Amino acid sequence: MPLSDCRIINLPKVTDPRGNLTFVEQERHVPFQIKRVYYLYDVPAGAERGGHAHKALEQLIVALSGSFEVVLDDGSNRATYRLDRPYFGLYICPMIWRELVNFSSGAVCLVLASNLYDPADYYRDYDQFLQAVRNKKPESGDRRGES
Ligand code: TYD
Repeated sequence: MPLSDCRIINLPKVTDPRGNLTFVEQERHVPFQIKRVYYLYDVPAGAERGGHAHKALEQLIVALSGSFEVVLDDGSNRATYRLDRPYFGLYICPMIWRELVNFSSGAVCLVLASNLYDPADYYRDYDQFLQAVRNKKPESGDRRGES
């Protein structure tokens, strides 16, 4: 799917002198049913996470604390998002290679996911990912399917 399907989603923020509150509701703030939640924390300086793409999984990534950058790549284009507020979520559609880099000290990365953990849903090799993207994309000038 194209990078243009990925986007920052503004999550609701209930401000309060006692402390702020943000919530996420499935199919309202994220365009999928939330089947799994996981989080990255205690990420050492200089470490990189991600380095893979998912065949079908959709995700919303939130910097609950601290900051980090998410580099997205659909096989043709790249975009880098810096996440540093707990009320911004980055929606990632299927078939996007992602790298999570430049974690600040104490960063916590929350991930809401549309399915349970499934190793078969991963592309962990960039060349295999590129090949899969290119096989799905009709070649320019390919008129198959037209009558
Ligand atoms: P991985 O998806 O490679 O982490 P990241 O993309 O965040 O860098 O997963 C790292 C390890 O954790 C891998 O051995 C699989 C395991 N894992 C689970 O068991 N369940 C999960 O929900 C996730 C995300 C990972």
